[in-house]
Amino acid sequence: MQIVLATHNVHKVSELGAILSAAVEGLELLGYDGPEPVEDGTSYLENALIKARAAFAHTGLPSMADDSGIAVEILGGSPGIFSARWAGGRDNIANRRLLLAQLRDVVEEHRAAAFVCTIALVGPDGEASFTGIWPGRVAFEEQGEHGFGYDPVFIPEGFEVTAAELDPEVKNSMSHRALALEQLATYLNAIAN
Ligand code: IMP
Repeated sequence: MQIVLATHNVHKVSELGAILSAAVEGLELLGYDGPEPVEDGTSYLENALIKARAAFAHTGLPSMADDSGIAVEILGGSPGIFSARWAGGRDNIANRRLLLAQLRDVVEEHRAAAFVCTIALVGPDGEASFTGIWPGRVAFEEQGEHGFGYDPVFIPEGFEVTAAELDPEVKNSMSHRALALEQLATYLNAIAN
C-alpha cells in the first residue's frame, strides 16, 4: 500500500514515518513536493482535509496530512490551529516566548494544555480522520533540546520534564501524533486484510 505524506515539515515527516512504517506492514510512504494549499480552515480537521485533498488531487494516490497544535486551557484553547504562527511568523522561538509571556503570572494549577493532532486520509474510496490528544501543562521556562515547536515548554502529564527533554522514542510512543497514528494504523491494517 502506498500513501502520500502531504507535509513539507521534515520533523513531522520523520516522526510520522517512523511510527507508521513500524505499525503497518507493507506500507510505503511517499513524499510530497506538489503545491501547498492555503490552510484557511477553522479547525484541525478542516486544515488536515485541505492538505490531504490537495495532495490526492495532485497525485491521484491516497494521501494523508496532519494538522496539529497546542491548546492552552486558560487561553480558551489558543494558540490551537494558529500554533505555528502564534507570534506572527513561522518562528518557533518567538512563538514559545510569546506563550511563556502570556502565562507569566499564571500559577502551575492553571497552566493546563494539550497537544492535539488530527490526521486526514483522502483517497479514491473516501475520507477518514483520526485525532490524538496529549495532555500536560505549560512550563515556566524552556528546557530540553529534542523535538520541535512547543516541545521545550510542554510538560506532559505524568512527567516533570518537558517533551524536549524526553528521548524522542518516548515522545513518539505517547504523543498526540502517536495516538492519532495508532488509530490510522488500526484502520489501515483493517482495510488491508
Ligand atoms: P501545522 O504544521 O500547521 O500542523 O502546525 C503545527 C504547529 O503546532 C507546529 O508548528 C508547532 O508549533 C505546534 N506543534 C504541533 N505538534 C507539535 C509537537 O509535537 N511538538 C511541539 N510543537 C508542536
